[in-house]
Amino acid sequence: MFAIIGGSGLYSLGEDFGLEEQASRRTPYGDTSADVLQGRWQSIPVVFLPRHGPGHRVPPHRVNYRANIWALKQVGVSRIISVNAVGGITDEMKPGTLVVPDQLIDYSSGREYTFFDGDDGKVIHVDFSWPYSAELRGVLTEVGLQKGQPLVASGTYGCTNGPRLESAAEIKRMRNDGCNLVGMTGMPETALARELEIEYACLALVVNWAAGVEDEPISMQDIMVNMERGMQQVKSLLLDAARLLQQ
Ligand code: HPA
Repeated sequence: MFAIIGGSGLYSLGEDFGLEEQASRRTPYGDTSADVLQGRWQSIPVVFLPRHGPGHRVPPHRVNYRANIWALKQVGVSRIISVNAVGGITDEMKPGTLVVPDQLIDYSSGREYTFFDGDDGKVIHVDFSWPYSAELRGVLTEVGLQKGQPLVASGTYGCTNGPRLESAAEIKRMRNDGCNLVGMTGMPETALARELEIEYACLALVVNWAAGVEDEPISMQDIMVNMERGMQQVKSLLLDAARLLQQ
């Protein structure tokens, strides 16, 4: 089963999505951000979960990432494409750009970041050298190419805690570290999916230049405009990806 985790700006799949089943939010790790919606998106089976809840009520540092990933696994999800709005750090990441990152660096803290706490007497480590699924990244770049939709096929995503945006110096440090993008929700979601052996990729939409890249302060209004514009392209790419994955 294929799932989409919607980020900021993507709270539903729209009228083309026919709901078939709605799973309860309860998990052993607490409640998910929203009901897990199972249905058909233009006849393709898709599971949908909005990360920030209906109407964007849950901030990035309060998202129950463990409950969300656990609940998706429970309904039989084996592949996830996650949508994340991000800031662009390096020159090729201008607002409006779609990116399929291949690496990440975690700067977040204070989040419940593992299913493997050792409580059951087992110590488990997972390989995370390549955090994202090569298969799903390939699918996204392929549908981007087919559509003639320009898409940056690699990049390093730096995950900060939020909800505030970063200082210019923090972004400078992240650039020196090798980050191309900055967002607040990539971790621990990506690692939790790996722990439960779910294929996972990120489709990032750049909605602003990161702090200090330009002289002016970051405008929340510009972010909203870029988000609305870009999400139409995101949805159309996701639908094509879902179609390809179904074959
Ligand atoms: N920083 C962190 N997260 C973000 C940004 C940003 O500039 N833009 C969108 N999400």
